Amino acid sequence: MTGYFTEEGSVAAVNARMTEHANPRVKDIMSLLVKHLHAFVKEARITQDEWDAAIVFLTKSGQICSSERQEFILLSDTLGVSMLVDAINNRREHGATENTVLGPFYVAGAPHRQMGDTISLDGKGESCLFEGKVIDLQGNLIAGASIDVWSDNADGYYDVQQPGQQPKWNNRGRFVTGSEGAYQFVGIKPVSYPIPDDGPVGQMLKHLGRHPYRPAHMHYIVTAPGYQKVVTHTFVGDDPYLASDAVFGVKETLVAVYEQLTDGPAKWRSPFDFVLTRERS
Ligand SMILES: [Fe+2]
Repeated sequence: MTGYFTEEGSVAAVNARMTEHANPRVKDIMSLLVKHLHAFVKEARITQDEWDAAIVFLTKSGQICSSERQEFILLSDTLGVSMLVDAINNRREHGATENTVLGPFYVAGAPHRQMGDTISLDGKGESCLFEGKVIDLQGNLIAGASIDVWSDNADGYYDVQQPGQQPKWNNRGRFVTGSEGAYQFVGIKPVSYPIPDDGPVGQMLKHLGRHPYRPAHMHYIVTAPGYQKVVTHTFVGDDPYLASDAVFGVKETLVAVYEQLTDGPAKWRSPFDFVLTRERS
């Protein structure tokens, strides 16, 4: 064993360079990454031109990133890695509300609103009453739960994608449940939209013959003291993209009912209860 690099011994050559000074967890992760990355390059018989293209792809992905644009989250999402990491780390009991991807458009610090308030500030779209309860697995009401909600507008864009065009905090808000564990607010019936596809990830999807659309959804982060944080969506049940979400975020239990109202505070009503599980000790 010389330590020199060979095709056959490539993994051992690289991993042998890690010393006893390595961070143990980093060493474990990087050893596996090198093992699988080398296996991938060997199995795919990557040409020099293809590897050069991969470097250009990653370089462009970094260059297009800004405070409003995160190409690496899109890459992770469209390759199913975001959903896989989430699935591994958020296994829950049957009946608990499932997680799905956070997505790149979450903004912390949305305004606190009163129950019943409207989060849609641009006057566009079909109004929808969202209501339900936050409960535990036994059906007990959870008071003091925080619901952080955000959605696109009727044109399919989040406020942060159109600064100056949309009112700040359009279709966003935070609500806290009272003693009944109930929530209620008015937003719009969300619409399906393409993930930003004018960059490297959009090019990748085109080369793969994939469309960039996400089925219409509302985003939620639901938290309560002593309970696991839920990062999730509810989906519009009749959306044509439910079975082909560009980021693989759909779960059957997250598909919500949207019923038309003949009178009341909105054109539509979408009931959904969030079921939380206790924090792991
Ligand atoms: Fe979204």
